[in-house]
Parts: sequence; C-alpha cells; structure tokens
Amino acid sequence: MSINIVIANQKGGVGKTTSATSLAHGLALRSRRVLMVDFDPQGQCATALGINQEAGVFNALVNTRSDIHQWIRDTNRTGLSLLPGDRSTATAQIVINAENRPIDSIRQLFKPLGREHDYIIFDTAPSVGGIQERAIYAADMVLIPTATEFLALDGLAQMMELLSALREKHNWSGKLAGILPTFYDEQTSESREALTELKTHFGESVLPPIHRATILRECPAEGKTIFEMSPASRSSREYEELSREIVKLS
Ligand SMILES: Nc1ncnc2c1ncn2[C@@H]1O[C@H](COP(=O)(O)OP(=O)(O)O)[C@@H](O)[C@H]1O
Ligand SMILES: [Mg+2]
Repeated sequence: MSINIVIANQKGGVGKTTSATSLAHGLALRSRRVLMVDFDPQGQCATALGINQEAGVFNALVNTRSDIHQWIRDTNRTGLSLLPGDRSTATAQIVINAENRPIDSIRQLFKPLGREHDYIIFDTAPSVGGIQERAIYAADMVLIPTATEFLALDGLAQMMELLSALREKHNWSGKLAGILPTFYDEQTSESREALTELKTHFGESVLPPIHRATILRECPAEGKTIFEMSPASRSSREYEELSREIVKLS
C-alpha cells in the first residue's frame, strides 16, 4: 500500500505547494511511483508541473462512483503523475461539507490507487475544512511547512489540535512527519528567532530548514520543479534531503 503524505498548514504562502511539488518529484527521482493530488482550488500543482489545471479533484470527489484513474494525468516525468485541481475544487469542498461525508471518505476514495503508487502526496488549501480534515485522515504522515517569520507559531497550535482531535475522536493512526521551516534566512534575526522558537516548541519534529531562494520563486512560472530548474542549487539539495528524510521515516 502507498504511504500517503499530506502537506498542510492553514496559513497561505508558507511553501506548501512548493514543498509538495519538490517532495513529489524528489521521491520520483528516487525511483518511487508518486501520485500528487491538488486539493487547493488555486490549482497551482498543475501550473508548477507545467500542465493544465483541470477539474480532476472535483470529478473524483463528486462522482465518487466514477473510476478515479480517468482523472489522473501524466506529468511527463518518470514515476510522477497528478490528479489536478482547479477552481471547481471549492465546489467539491461545499458538497463534502453539505453531505457531511464520513471522515474516512477520502481515504476510501484513494484506496484503489494505493497498490499502484509508493507515495500519494496531498497538497491542501490554506484553510481548515471538510477536504483538509479528510485528507489528513487519509494520510500516514503530515508535513507542515512553516515560514520562519514573526508569528511562525501562530496557527500551528490549531493544526496540532486538529491532529489530536483526529487521533482521539476517529482513531487516526498517522504521525507528524515534521515541521518544515521555510523561507529561512540566517541573515535576519526574525528568521533565526523563528527557527529557535519552532525548535523550542517542537524539538526533534523540526526538519532542516529550506532557505529563502529566488530560484524557488521562479520555478512555477516555468512549469519546472527545482530539480529541473537548477539541479545544482542549494534549494535542490535541501529538497533532496527532505525526500531522503521522508523515505527514512516511511
Ligand atoms: N523557499 C522559498 N524561497 C523563496 N520563495 C519561495 C520559497 N518557497 C516558496 N516560495 C514562493 O512563495 C510563494 C508561496 O509559496 P507556495 O508554495 O505557493 O505556498 P502555499 O502553497 O503555502 O500557499 C510562491 O510564489 C513560491 O514560489
Ligand atoms: Mg499552495
């Protein structure tokens, strides 16, 4: 069965999509069969991988009796495919909330894909809702990118409460893969202090930081991952290290 990893943080702009894309390709480059799923209505996973946004997630979530395979797209990268999303994912979110679907609905939906993939990576929207909660429940591991800036801890308490609630109320057996510090810049005291604060609160759960880097910002516009854009860059090495760490934890 696949190992499912959800990338979550209800804050936006903390590097979720960047980390999801880089980790997914990083694992594929380590010869794993990876499926990425874009649960954010912004649909940026497709853009980041240089393919078209589509209503794949909407179709899969709303037409639950359809064969989910038909919505999956090849990314033209060995071992990496994508279930793309677009604005219609917001409608799927409304449907899921209105129908009050069971907590394991997303887990069940992706079960048939577990045999065909080593990893399924769920990217999520910066909010807490029906999809996010069910995506976390479907995950074996949760990775929480967190920008190393003022109020870095803000919002993390809420994420941790959600994980505890899923454990206690629904017997969720997943674990925290780690807090991933992003936008790290040791030149600024703000960034250094934020990292220290994260380590004080979360200790060993804090992964090695991803530095702020212009090259990472430039990737989506080119539809390339960091490994294609600049394989020799520090960002590449950092995300390679993250991929290795995730394989170790799996
Ligand atoms: N380490 C980084 N250094 C510089 N820019 C980054 C870094 N990580 C992400 N970005 C850029 O910051 C913006 C927000 O990142 P994104 O991954 O989309 O965050 P989220 O998915 O959490 O909203 C994007 O323009 C992205 O290219
Ligand atoms: Mg995003």
